[in-house]
Amino acid sequence: MYNASSTDRIEIVGPTNVTSMNEFRRDILKGLTASQKFIPSKYFYDACGSNLFEKICLLPEYYLTRMELSILKDSASAIMENFQGGDLIELGSGASWKVKTLLNVAYQSSLIDIRYIPIDVNELVLKEASKELLSEYPHLKVLGIVADFTKKIEKIPTEREKLFILFGSTIGNFHEKEAITFLRNIAQLMEPNDRFLLGLDMVKPREVLEPAYNDTQGVTSEFNKNILSVVNRKLDANFHLDHFDHYAFFDSEKSQMEMHLRANCKIAAEIKGLNLHITMEKGETIRTEISRKFTIRRAEAMIAEAGFVIKRWFFDPNQWFSLIELTRSTSDLWKRHLNDQLTQRRARKENLRKCKFANMKRPVRMHGKV
Ligand SMILES: C[S@@+](CC[C@H](N)C(=O)[O-])C[C@H]1O[C@@H](n2cnc3c(N)ncnc32)[C@H](O)[C@@H]1O
Repeated sequence: MYNASSTDRIEIVGPTNVTSMNEFRRDILKGLTASQKFIPSKYFYDACGSNLFEKICLLPEYYLTRMELSILKDSASAIMENFQGGDLIELGSGASWKVKTLLNVAYQSSLIDIRYIPIDVNELVLKEASKELLSEYPHLKVLGIVADFTKKIEKIPTEREKLFILFGSTIGNFHEKEAITFLRNIAQLMEPNDRFLLGLDMVKPREVLEPAYNDTQGVTSEFNKNILSVVNRKLDANFHLDHFDHYAFFDSEKSQMEMHLRANCKIAAEIKGLNLHITMEKGETIRTEISRKFTIRRAEAMIAEAGFVIKRWFFDPNQWFSLIELTRSTSDLWKRHLNDQLTQRRARKENLRKCKFANMKRPVRMHGKV
């Protein structure tokens, strides 16, 4: 029987491709100089932001976690019944609460040859969650990968059966095209027998959606404003958090919740790390998150375009939330798409090479236009 100590059962790799300071600078410069200012939502998750998100998950208004967990409890046996042992790969794993429903079923059916591979940008949260799992599941092996899942992740092992997981309706935080690119990248890591479990928040009345992002205890507001603390700390900026209000609303045309920080007075902030001065009018906003809500049809269109086939849907009784089990499409259409992508990538590279070559040959003048 496998009985190694927990330190023998865990390996953490990375940070591999996590945002460099240069990329952070570029993202913040682009976002805060756009006509609708924005900050990418992945920057919520420093130690404080991750902590606050865990609190949000426990709020009475935040139905998402409760619904997803209840669906998981009902469907875990069905999801795991054909899993012969292999890798559970969770993208944006955070506190790794939900995966326990799957691990419990696996352990009850003596399926212990499972490796859990959490992938998250937040190293601290990933390590703490992994340690907790090791103490709860004495046979579990963990390979933690500290990485940005929107970029290529080199370290994902390929040799065993894989069940990819993306909980929390995190896919809703991507704009439509980004979501499809992201899903296609995952499809490319999958073999025909591998599966992908995708959590999706469904369209529902505004009266349910808006309170979930506007809780009465103000935790979501604190979470939202924390993104400015991240900018202040990393770029030596002087945003006053009190000068912004948390603002979250449902845009029914786009079928998405949006979170913004709305200036409650005229803003003049200095971002020394960017050598940038930002002014904002009272009422102007910085968008910090979108959370797209899905109909079955909208989800089906996204999934098909990304090169997946739906095996099963799992819902709660109100159909507020869903879990979809997917496999990679093996149709010729999908193969053609991969080939097209490869050809386009090659053409872009060739173009870039030609441009660089042309620039090298171009004479450089000291004054006027080059
Ligand atoms: C909304 S939380 C969801 C946590 C958990 N999966 C759940 O369902 O409760 C998003 C998680 O994804 C991580 N995350 C956000 N953007 C990421 C990125 N680009 N790459 C990797 N992890 C990311 C955050 O650190 C956080 O733990």
